[in-house]
Amino acid sequence: MSTAHRLGLDPIATPDRLLLGPGPSNAHPTVLQALARTPIGHLDPLYIELMGEVQELLRYAWQTDNRLTIPMSGTGSAAMEATLANTVERGDKVMVAVMGYFGLRLVDMAGRYGAEVVTIERPWGEAFSKAEIAEALATHKPTILAMVHAETSTGVCQPMEGIGDLCRQHDCLLLLDTVTSLGGVPLFLDDWKVDLAYSCSQKGLSCPPGLGPFTMGPRAEAKLLARTTKVPNWYLDVSLLNQYWGSDRVYHHTAPVNMNFGMREALRLLAEEGIENAWARHRRNAERLWAGLESLGLALHVPEELRLPTLTTVRIPEGVDGKAFSRHLLDRHGIEVGGGLGALAGKVWRIGLMGYNSTPENVDRLLDLFANELPAFRPSAPVAAAVG
Ligand SMILES: Cc1ncc(COP(=O)(O)O)c(C=O)c1O
Repeated sequence: MSTAHRLGLDPIATPDRLLLGPGPSNAHPTVLQALARTPIGHLDPLYIELMGEVQELLRYAWQTDNRLTIPMSGTGSAAMEATLANTVERGDKVMVAVMGYFGLRLVDMAGRYGAEVVTIERPWGEAFSKAEIAEALATHKPTILAMVHAETSTGVCQPMEGIGDLCRQHDCLLLLDTVTSLGGVPLFLDDWKVDLAYSCSQKGLSCPPGLGPFTMGPRAEAKLLARTTKVPNWYLDVSLLNQYWGSDRVYHHTAPVNMNFGMREALRLLAEEGIENAWARHRRNAERLWAGLESLGLALHVPEELRLPTLTTVRIPEGVDGKAFSRHLLDRHGIEVGGGLGALAGKVWRIGLMGYNSTPENVDRLLDLFANELPAFRPSAPVAAAVG
């Protein structure tokens, strides 16, 4: 028999890009060095020590004391799915506060685990008030309230003060998506009384995609313990995973060792900078971007008090082909800027300033390109200029 599918390819040679879209963001150079180290065994005493360090550093990044805090092997969506897979039993009522694309993903996932899903909704670009949440909790009486803190599809940061208290009054768990906030936007999981949260490695933590930080507080742990049915997802079952991440160190799956090297370095850098300093840096650079864009006459989609420092949605001016301009930035300058998702498709650009990429130099470079090269994409621009 002859073999099939053989390809003769050159070694990979992707160019360096500046990733200023919704994620992934660029990884810090020392994170890349950590990723390139020789792997060690996933039960090696040195690796076991590193696991504990990663867990403790994640608790710092999230400001939580939760025992069950681990990086799931998988992207943010795996950690998202883990929050629901472990706590939802058939017939549980999950209320999802939808204000963008990722709220809809929570709806889809919760339904797949057999939840009775109810939604409350806000237009894409707005957030929920505490009063709206209070009223919906009283009306629907859910077992779990799931929300997105940093909605990457719209650029909105959902205010969280007081929502955890409301959930406790209604004996409901609070589940929070912090994929676009961890490392870049103030997050106080324990003070906010969040019971379940998840995130990703590739945004505010300056690491490539591949790990999904996950955390579960005591109230959610109690719900897991009280299950009458097995967690329907073997890979994401925290009671099994905790035998590896807890004190027993029992093999569950082969950990992506090098991803965790990278995660340790990314979280170490965050702790070295100081989380408050990282939050302040993200805020400062986002404000610089907002002021610059507005001075060019561009409109921002989200009112300032709700804007995310990590992700800015900019309205594409009337008549401009937004896709063509993003493509130009990528092809000519190696810079990635995102387009709109769902209800905002074709209407906004999404600019990310996350982790290592949140610098004044990156902001100024992008603003220069918007100032000097966007005019050729406006409808009044001479055809030759647009083509050129
Ligand atoms: C708010 C939010 N939630 C969940 C996800 C899913 O994460 P991942 O793409 O890493 O699976 C993303 C991805 O960008 C996101 O922005």
